[in-house]
Amino acid sequence: MEHIEKALARAREMRSGHRGSTANDSARRPNTQASVHGVMPDYTETAVLPANARKASEERLVADDLRNPVADVYRVLRAQVLQRMKKLDISTIAVTGASHGDGATTTAANLAISIALDVNQTVLLVDLNLREPSIHRKFGLTPTKGIENYLHGECDIKDCLVNPGMRRLVVLPAFASKGESAELISSPRMAALVRELRNRYHDRIIIFDVPPLLESGETLGFLPNVEGVLFVARSGHTTKTELDRAADLLRNYQVIGTLLNGSR
Ligand SMILES: Nc1ncnc2c1ncn2[C@@H]1O[C@H](COP(=O)(O)OP(=O)(O)OP(=O)(O)O)[C@@H](O)[C@H]1O
Ligand SMILES: [Mg+2]
Repeated sequence: MEHIEKALARAREMRSGHRGSTANDSARRPNTQASVHGVMPDYTETAVLPANARKASEERLVADDLRNPVADVYRVLRAQVLQRMKKLDISTIAVTGASHGDGATTTAANLAISIALDVNQTVLLVDLNLREPSIHRKFGLTPTKGIENYLHGECDIKDCLVNPGMRRLVVLPAFASKGESAELISSPRMAALVRELRNRYHDRIIIFDVPPLLESGETLGFLPNVEGVLFVARSGHTTKTELDRAADLLRNYQVIGTLLNGSR
């Protein structure tokens, strides 16, 4: 796992004090205002539910805040991810970490925002953490339907889609924490949904925020549905043993990159 080796090397370098700008820098800078609700969307079918800019900023969704240097970090990540996806000719990726709190959701959401800022790209961000859904919370959204309602056959998928007030970004939230629903992400209905989303939005990048690899069996069950995996390691927290275990579990999947997220 070349990517993970690089992450380890970078972690060592950062611990010894030689570090550049990382996503963690936002914690030490004054919180500048995010502007996730600053742009009027042009979606006609998708419900518009404007994000709460203050909440999003508190939750470190800063990729659209051009005054925040961390937005630059996500622009670099965007460039690397898009380049890789283009080269591989893929449009679906899952973002996961080894353990809870490694920063998978923060990364997935900021990456989605950053991609949506690129005028050439539209993006769908899907919350597949059905045990503890958090995308809607991070954006400050209060959706009335989530993907689990669709997976339970209770509504049409278009009724679950939300535009958080940003052009080119659509969110498919998970609505409520229902432990028994977690397995749904590795169900045939989920596989069919991914296929349908890919066909319906063939020019759209789809980012799935999935539970941590080492802590939920359903993540591995879901991964065959996507074409690439972005792995998030947490500086000062993810251990070498965890990285080895994650690398082992991911050996049959296309890892498009590993992101070393800031320390706790
Ligand atoms: N680079 C960072 N610097 C400082 N805090 C961060 C950073 N990345 C994430 N966080 C914070 O760490 C917490 C966990 O992040 P996040 O929710 O993205 O993790 P996760 O891997 O999705 O966790 P879970 O497994 O619970 O879904 C959040 O409070 C988030 O704001
Ligand atoms: Mg998460």
